[in-house]
This record gives sequence, structure tokens and C-alpha cells, in this order.
Amino acid sequence: MFERLVLKLYLILQAYAFATKLDTEPSCSKLLAELGDFQKNLVTCVTHNSVPVQICSNCKIVYGNMTKQYKKLSNCSEYFDQDRLNLIPTTQNLLSSIWSKAYCNGKYFGKTVFSGYPYKCYFLSIYHVTECDQDDALQKYTDKNEELSTCINKTANNEVCATCLHLYRDLNSYFTSLNQRYNGKVCFEMQDQMNRTRNHWSKGLKCCQRKPKLTYFTIALAFVISLPMIFYTSSYIITIQRENNHGTLHDEDPLLNVPAPTASTSSTATPGATSLPTTSSTNLNETTSAISKKIF
Ligand SMILES: *[C@@H]1O[C@H](CO)[C@@H](O)[C@H](O)[C@H]1NC(C)=O
Ligand SMILES: *[C@@H]1O[C@H](CO)[C@@H](O)[C@H](O)[C@H]1NC(C)=O
Ligand SMILES: *[C@@H]1O[C@H](CO)[C@@H](O)[C@H](O)[C@H]1NC(C)=O
Ligand SMILES: *[C@@H]1O[C@H](CO)[C@@H](O)[C@H](O)[C@H]1NC(C)=O
Repeated sequence: MFERLVLKLYLILQAYAFATKLDTEPSCSKLLAELGDFQKNLVTCVTHNSVPVQICSNCKIVYGNMTKQYKKLSNCSEYFDQDRLNLIPTTQNLLSSIWSKAYCNGKYFGKTVFSGYPYKCYFLSIYHVTECDQDDALQKYTDKNEELSTCINKTANNEVCATCLHLYRDLNSYFTSLNQRYNGKVCFEMQDQMNRTRNHWSKGLKCCQRKPKLTYFTIALAFVISLPMIFYTSSYIITIQRENNHGTLHDEDPLLNVPAPTASTSSTATPGATSLPTTSSTNLNETTSAISKKIF
């Protein structure tokens, strides 16, 4: 009777030990099933946060869970390189590539990045490799964007451009500086948001700075186009005045009014007629100087 009880107790203890062992070291099939769930969560999260792009901040935890799980599975060699498709690493790489394509990981290696003092940088090892996190930049950017958005929302439509311009410029220059620092690899969430803000600012609110420049350009263009008209009008006035001058001269000296065809056809050139071209050319010179005086 007592022996049976001891045996039962022993069996129970054995079962318990087995169970706890299972719990501390989960089987590979369990790890694989969990990985599938985490991958599914990531896909759902990415789809839900795709437009506008907000995957970097909203799916960060899900992505972290998935990568951790994949590392755990790496001990289960029976799932890797067993066939040509090699599906598990393929699926994992596919999902990870979304992350790197959107520059969500925010890890940039190299000494140059370390000079980016305002952003969190950690010394990783003696190899002087630094790991920099764009999370701070994203937070700062989001704060600035929020400030601008609040200003736009609470300001009357016709005053938005003037009132919120300094906030817009601040946000824009902050983004530009980040873009330079990270060599164009700024977290895509920020890129998308900046693009939307710029579009809204210039197309939605029509606060584009080109407008006054365009007005000046139009004025200059109108002036240039009207130049020929001014020229022809002034030429016309000058010609009329010149003709009037001819009339006055004719009154003074009848010889000057000798018609050119008569002078050239006439075979008997008088001394008065020969002096005609010189006089008329002097007269022409006077008129031209008069014209130039009028023009300038
Ligand atoms: C991520 O993992 C933690 C702990 O493993 C868990 O508590 C959390 O619910 C998971 N989150 C998601 C979104 O999968
Ligand atoms: C892989 O297995 C070893 C022991 O076999 C264990 O120490 C290690 O923590 C395991 N790695 C992971 C990521 O679970
Ligand atoms: C401003 O208004 C837009 C649309 O009306 C809204 O989506 C946005 O959240 C508002 N921003 C703030 C900071 O309240
Ligand atoms: C910015 O927006 C325009 C149109 O809204 C789009 O065509 C363009 O691809 C966007 N740029 C980026 C970097 O997303």
C-alpha cells in the first residue's frame, strides 16, 4: 500500500520535472509556430500602418518580437538548408527587407556618424563602431511637426502662411540637416511625413514662396515685351519731327528741296546742285544728333 503511494508520488514528480524541462527549453516545432505568429503580426501591422507610413514607430515591438524569435529558432538546424526553397530564411528576409528599405532600424555604422552628437550613439566595441539611433531624431521631428500642425489648425486660413512660416522653416531645415547627416537614409516615416507636409504647405495652403518672385518676373517680362512698342512709337515721333524740320529748312533755302531723281537725271549740274549732297548730309548729321538727344 505504502510502496504504491511512493511509486505514484515518484511518477508525479517525474512528470512534473519533464513538464518544467519542456517549459524552459521549448521544442523546435513550438518555436516555429510562434515565429509564424510573430511574422503574421508584423504583416498585419505593416499593412495597417502603410499610408501614411508609420511602420517604424507603430510596428517596432512586433518587429523586435519577430527577430528575437528567429534568433531562438536558429538552434533548430532541421529547419534550415534542407531544400532548395529554404522557406523559413526566405520569408524572414522578405519581412526584414521591408524594415531596412524604410530605414527603420536606424543603425548606421562608421566613425562619421559618431559626430552626430545630439543623437543617441553608443560605443559598441574596441573597433570604434558606433550604433546610432534615429529614435531621438524621429521624436524631435514628430514634436516639430505637431507644433506646425497645431499652428495650421488654429490659425485663420488667410493668415496661416505668415503665422506658421517660422515653424515650417524650422521643421524643413531640421529635416534637411537630418537628410544630410544620414546621407539620404532618413527613416522613411519622416520622409513620408515631410513630403506630405511640404505638399500641404505649397499645394493645399498655397504658401509657396515662389509667388512674389513670379509677380516680379511677370512685370519684367511685360516691360521687355513692351520695349519694341516704345521703340517704334519713339521712332515714329522722331520721324514726324524730322519731316517738320525739313519743312522749316525748305522755307529758308529752296535749293535743299531739289528732288533727288531730278538731281541725278539732270545732265547740266549747276555749282549750287553739286553742293547739295554735302549740305543735306550735314543736315542729316544734325538730325541724327537730334534723334540721339531725343533717345537718351
Ligand atoms: C511581444 O513579446 C512580448 C514578450 O515576449 C509580449 O508580451 C508581447 O505581447 C508581444 N507583442 C506583440 C505585439 O506581439
Ligand atoms: C541554443 O542552444 C544552446 C544550447 O544548446 C543555448 O545555450 C542557447 O541559448 C540557444 N540559443 C538560443 C538563441 O536559444
Ligand atoms: C489638424 O487637423 C488635421 C485635420 O483636420 C488633423 O488630422 C490633425 O491631427 C490636426 N493636428 C493637430 C495637432 O491637432
Ligand atoms: C512625395 O509625394 C509625391 C506626390 O504626392 C510622390 O509622387 C512622391 O513619390 C513622394 N516622395 C516620397 C519620397 O515619398
